[in-house]
Amino acid sequence: MISNESDGKIIKKENRRDFLKYLLTTGLAGFALATIYPVISFLKPPKQREVKVSSVSAGLAKDFNTGDYKIIRFGKVPVIVIKDEEKDFRAFSATCTHLDCTVQYKKDEKIIWCACHNGKYDLHGRNISGPPPRPLDKFMVVLKDEEILVTKSS
Ligand code: FES
Repeated sequence: MISNESDGKIIKKENRRDFLKYLLTTGLAGFALATIYPVISFLKPPKQREVKVSSVSAGLAKDFNTGDYKIIRFGKVPVIVIKDEEKDFRAFSATCTHLDCTVQYKKDEKIIWCACHNGKYDLHGRNISGPPPRPLDKFMVVLKDEEILVTKSS
């Protein structure tokens, strides 16, 4: 089709309109990206590097009375260290196997208890009542010069 001068103006206007649409679309897309990316970055927790730990001190044995417990960090894992009625030390993962709440030791009932949904474990870490589907992971406890060392159970 042959275009006259007025058609040429129409074509130029359409080109200009397309160019403006392109600029507006890419500008909006860039703005959306620049707005959304920081929000997503803020909401997503940073990756923590796994710290390889072979043993962790839970303090001195003399600082524990019978029935006392302490929660320590074994790398990223919270571990509950308990001095039971036989004066033995026991250590388990302190993360409930149901929905990951932190457990505690109930001295009067001699159980490890999860307050979230009343989950109960015995002093071997076995799930004995409530919703926890499996036992707590065990850790080994070694006394070295009165210091309580917690190591990963093999
Ligand atoms: S999270 Fe522990 S019983 Fe539910």
